[in-house]
Amino acid sequence: NVMAQSAGNLKAFRGSLVDIAKVVDQPQDIDQQVRSVEDGLLIVKDGKIEFAGEYQQGKLLLADDVLVHDYRGKLIVPGFIDAHIHYPQLEMIGAHGEQLLEWLNTYTFPTERKYGDKEYATAMAKLFLDQLFRNGTTTALVFCSVHPESVDALFEQAENFNMRVIAGKVMMDRNAPDYLLDTPESSYSDSKALIEKWHKKGRALYAITPRFAPTSTPEQLELAGRLREEYPDTYLHTHLSENLNEIAWVKELFPEQNGYLDVYDHYKLVGERSVFAHGVHLEDHEFCCMGDKGAAIAFCPTSNLYLGSGLFKLHKTWQYNVRVGMGTDIGAGTSFNMLQTLNEAYKVCQLQGKKLSAFESFYHATLGGARSLYLEDKLGNFDQGKEADFVVMDPAATSLQQLRWENSKSLAEKLFVLMTIGDDRNIYRTYVDGKLAFQK
Ligand code: GUN
Ligand code: FE
Repeated sequence: NVMAQSAGNLKAFRGSLVDIAKVVDQPQDIDQQVRSVEDGLLIVKDGKIEFAGEYQQGKLLLADDVLVHDYRGKLIVPGFIDAHIHYPQLEMIGAHGEQLLEWLNTYTFPTERKYGDKEYATAMAKLFLDQLFRNGTTTALVFCSVHPESVDALFEQAENFNMRVIAGKVMMDRNAPDYLLDTPESSYSDSKALIEKWHKKGRALYAITPRFAPTSTPEQLELAGRLREEYPDTYLHTHLSENLNEIAWVKELFPEQNGYLDVYDHYKLVGERSVFAHGVHLEDHEFCCMGDKGAAIAFCPTSNLYLGSGLFKLHKTWQYNVRVGMGTDIGAGTSFNMLQTLNEAYKVCQLQGKKLSAFESFYHATLGGARSLYLEDKLGNFDQGKEADFVVMDPAATSLQQLRWENSKSLAEKLFVLMTIGDDRNIYRTYVDGKLAFQK
């Protein structure tokens, strides 16, 4: 006794569905969780997944007046999740010649200065969201600049799409040019006002965002910790153990603390919904602490290679049960595209003698990324009731891709090749909240 539903708020999409059924504890368990439906149907109702499965079964749920978008020959996958990105840095991608600390002083700080101008920030926020969507990224954890205006600009633009975005005002009160500094008190009150204004408004979420330990005084970190206590369901977003000179500097600035992670821990900033970009040089006891406390790492391979920061030990996140998502880290990262980010992740693992599989990569970019943001009950796969953010990918956008797709024998091989030679050319449609946000 199937009740066929008519058009109303129903939308239906036919194509090959691929997603990951469940969160896993070990990478070797991912293969069993891959769900693949060659001739599939995705039904969306009021921005939520209503059905994902066989077309022949799903079509029985639809009345005759429901238009089925025909994406046969294409792959429909959950929207990609970018666990670390800076929107004010899109305009300085590809800045030449420096490692982290010099790169910040030479390129980053002068660029971020511009985002005190609301109109300018708004124009860049529009461009930023367009870049995300044309790359199939539907959720991102985003650094704004030190200016509250930059945060308003981003959330206002994301609101137009009812996008699930997480963002916050940078807190930094030392070791940067005067024109970019706030104070402990102003960073506290500005962040608080932004939380009240934006956190949980629609799908927006707020992240308390001290830039990194060297640019905050102990007083400011203390106040960041107080905000965390006052708003326990907000996020904490910062950088950690990216570069060796940075780590040595943190040791000088915080001699009482037992290492970089311990600085954040001392100020009660390490816990659930704490997301730390990089963690390239973490020690085992630090991975262990993060696993125990439910904190997450954003793995940013294009950035880590570009700034010469080092090779992230992805295998340690499995060993210590640390949540991990993929980050592009634009503008130190070199691509908005998740396929390209996974391509570089594979090479980072290769250089350490590890074999990152296609399915594990896909997991990190979707369900695993959702878990890193404590959103695995809302995003990351096509379970009924989840938010309808998804991407239609054309796996054969070029003749080389088509050749390689057709002569690949398994889904694992097909996906792996797509991650290696694919990019924004493969993003055919992007849907956010069940609505078209980008089309090629
Ligand atoms: N550490 C502190 N600030 C930054 C930044 O803007 N980008 C990167 N990659 N690392 C940082
Ligand atoms: Fe970053």
